[in-house]
Amino acid sequence: MSNRKPETGAFFQRDRQWHPPAYTPDYKTSVVRSPQRALLSLDSTLSEITGPVFGHSLLGELDDDLIHNFAKPGESAIGQRIIVHGRVVDERGVGVASALLEFWQANAGGRYRHKREGYLAPLDPNFGGCGRTITDEDGYYRFRTVKPGAYPWPNGVNDWRPAHIHFSVFGHGFAQRLITQMYFEGDPMIWQCPIVKSIPDKAAIEQLIAALDRQNTIPMDARAYKFDIVLRGRRSTLFENRLEGN
Ligand SMILES: [Fe+2]
Repeated sequence: MSNRKPETGAFFQRDRQWHPPAYTPDYKTSVVRSPQRALLSLDSTLSEITGPVFGHSLLGELDDDLIHNFAKPGESAIGQRIIVHGRVVDERGVGVASALLEFWQANAGGRYRHKREGYLAPLDPNFGGCGRTITDEDGYYRFRTVKPGAYPWPNGVNDWRPAHIHFSVFGHGFAQRLITQMYFEGDPMIWQCPIVKSIPDKAAIEQLIAALDRQNTIPMDARAYKFDIVLRGRRSTLFENRLEGN
């Protein structure tokens, strides 16, 4: 755990050419989710910004290994084995230490372990689909998983989500939570997705695409993908729960 004082930083107005508008009708649920009235700015309360601090002791041994954290002893999840790693940084590129990261994803066939899941792809009995880790002193994180499959979703007549991993980043309290999605380099489905297409700037989309990282590949085991998360600044990662600014 770091004893460094929490970084708060100044508020940066969000660049609307970079981040998507909240109302994008081709992404159907944005119609009901987007604000109907003028936005209000509320200050955080003391309990929101000082509230429980996460420590490494809270994490289980396999929390950062989705290949094994739901599997029966001696078994492992089916799919292409990958390592996802990178840094959580602030607007100056300085690593953010001790940030709790949670991630969740579909299995290799594109199926979620969720009772409302409607896709025909099979469940993998050895894959749960979620995990967590905490960034180190330099803001670095790493976890193992299998590459998720693409899946269909009820938006247009035949819309498919590209392979992706959902990320949640906690700050120094539960009220400081940012949520985003990571995509995979070279996937043509990215550019057909109505959610992705709600982002106006191509470079902002590319910032959500993890690069295939040959240097950190483990021979005969796993490929690696590198994904950095930028918390603030004009070139902040897109956080879907904070379209108004973070
Ligand atoms: Fe998803």
